[in-house]
Amino acid sequence: MNSLDSILKRTEAELSSISFTDEPVSLYDPITYILSLGGKRIRPALTLIGCNIYSENIDAAVKPALGIEVFHNFTLLHDDLMDGADRRRNRKTVHKVWSPNVAILSGDAMLIASYRLIGKTPAPYLSVVLDLFTKTALDICGGQQYDMEFEQRMDVTEQEYIRMIEMKTAVLLACALKIGALIGGASLHDADLLYNYGIDLGLAFQLQDDLLDVYGDPESFGKNIGGDIISNKKTFLLLNALRMVEGEERDRVLGWLCRIDCDPERKIAYFTELYSKLGIKELTEQRIAYFYTEAKHNLSALQIADERLCVLKEISEKLMYRQV
Ligand code: IPE
Ligand code: IPE
Ligand code: MG
Ligand code: MG
Ligand code: MG
Repeated sequence: MNSLDSILKRTEAELSSISFTDEPVSLYDPITYILSLGGKRIRPALTLIGCNIYSENIDAAVKPALGIEVFHNFTLLHDDLMDGADRRRNRKTVHKVWSPNVAILSGDAMLIASYRLIGKTPAPYLSVVLDLFTKTALDICGGQQYDMEFEQRMDVTEQEYIRMIEMKTAVLLACALKIGALIGGASLHDADLLYNYGIDLGLAFQLQDDLLDVYGDPESFGKNIGGDIISNKKTFLLLNALRMVEGEERDRVLGWLCRIDCDPERKIAYFTELYSKLGIKELTEQRIAYFYTEAKHNLSALQIADERLCVLKEISEKLMYRQV
């Protein structure tokens, strides 16, 4: 079996071997830019890990793994444009370095390139993998649409929020792991359990992302802090604060959410203090732990020796306590 370190190294090496050097350079330079800024590479790693659980040889999963990472980076280009985000991976976002139109079009090119890579899946698995990947990509569009619609709504329920983050984030982690497992030769029974594992892991992952958006260190997180607060994102944090406040405090919260021209720093400071006062950080951490425990339930039903799961467990553990 490959160690986590060797899986991550392989991912990085394979990624840098695909070049986007066609013309016009103004279409391809932003792609090289975003892909060369690093990132945790968890999705391609999950694909290779999923494959390695069932097969010693992971070569067949490499191209699909790269396809998933290119796809993920495409979603980041469009997401940063939609979220008005200026920083990612400690650098300016593509729409800031170039322009919104460049972020749209280079993103489109990445989506197409990701399909070409997914298309290199070995023939026996191609149809099921393409189907899963396509369904996942559509779910992500749906999740992103909900995410934006929720900015305007004050009555979003926690259930709606969980569904939204399942769609925008969790399904891609789940899909990455399942595709790898299928290519490695897993039974459908096992592949589905791993998919469910990926969903719960992904929910915990997005909750941690929401948390880091408020409490992260901008240097290590690589994004501007407070972006979700400024855009009135209905994060787990805000929904729970809305549920808890009453009276004058509630009026103040609603006031901040309605105001169009407000000082962003003051708004961030207000909500950060409110969250601290209400114990929202601890509440979010408890939910993260809950989803992680839920995730692990799936592993015990797998028809595979426990020692084959150590790398999956290792990467999951790292993600749960990440600061980046
Ligand atoms: C960012 O994903 C988008 C979310 C789903 C939260 P990552 O946190 O995996 O970003 P990178 O690829 O490591 O930069
Ligand atoms: C992003 O969610 C989900 C996708 C990119 C599909 P966020 O908007 O929270 O991700 P970040 O925080 O910008 O990375
Ligand atoms: Mg964003
Ligand atoms: Mg977003
Ligand atoms: Mg975020």
